[in-house]
Amino acid sequence: MKIALTGTPGTGKTSVSQILIKNGIKVIDLNDLAISKNFTSGQDSKRKSAIIDTIKLNDYIKKNFNTNDTIIFESHLSHLLKCMDKIIILRCHPKELQKRLKTKKWNKKKIQENVEAEILDIVLSESVEIQGTQKLLEIDTTQKSPEELSEKILELIDKKFNGVKNYKIGCIDWSEEILKYY
Ligand SMILES: Nc1ncnc2c1ncn2[C@@H]1O[C@H](COP(=O)(O)OP(=O)(O)OP(=O)(O)O)[C@@H](O)[C@H]1O
Ligand SMILES: [Mg+2]
Repeated sequence: MKIALTGTPGTGKTSVSQILIKNGIKVIDLNDLAISKNFTSGQDSKRKSAIIDTIKLNDYIKKNFNTNDTIIFESHLSHLLKCMDKIIILRCHPKELQKRLKTKKWNKKKIQENVEAEILDIVLSESVEIQGTQKLLEIDTTQKSPEELSEKILELIDKKFNGVKNYKIGCIDWSEEILKYY
């Protein structure tokens, strides 16, 4: 099973992945994979980062990870890949997300852009558009340590994602937070 672990930057994908790896789960960093294989289609000059070619990345994963083993693909772009069987979207309250993003030492504008993306459910709406609703789950990480979060994800894997009512999409709503910016 190919599991996409996605979410707005700062929601904690890499932190929880490190714990999952220690628990024996195979985790692939999709950003690293795309860069190392040159699956890029130019440079985003505004964000000073490479534009990842998700079609090439999707084709590569389909060919090279053709297995029933459980593999987690972590990246804020992983939900864009059609070959994924399940999509775990990590969410975080905007105030807490701002705190987490500050540790990345990004400039104010980049932090604001990502906090707004979280409030506007960007990753969720992209996921619904590309994957439909069946494969998707949302986990609120705001009050969870990376250890607690990894336990939840391990449980989901263990149960083959059966009985996942708690993580139904569409229940998380940060929309009132947007008013605080105006
Ligand atoms: N569950 C959590 N509770 C509190 N702090 C967290 C949690 N998860 C991550 N953090 C902290 O938030 C910051 C961002 O975490 P992390 O780098 O794991 O996010 P990410 O989703 O991988 O971001 P990116 O998409 O930019 O790679 C780090 O300083 C990390 O220590
Ligand atoms: Mg990361």
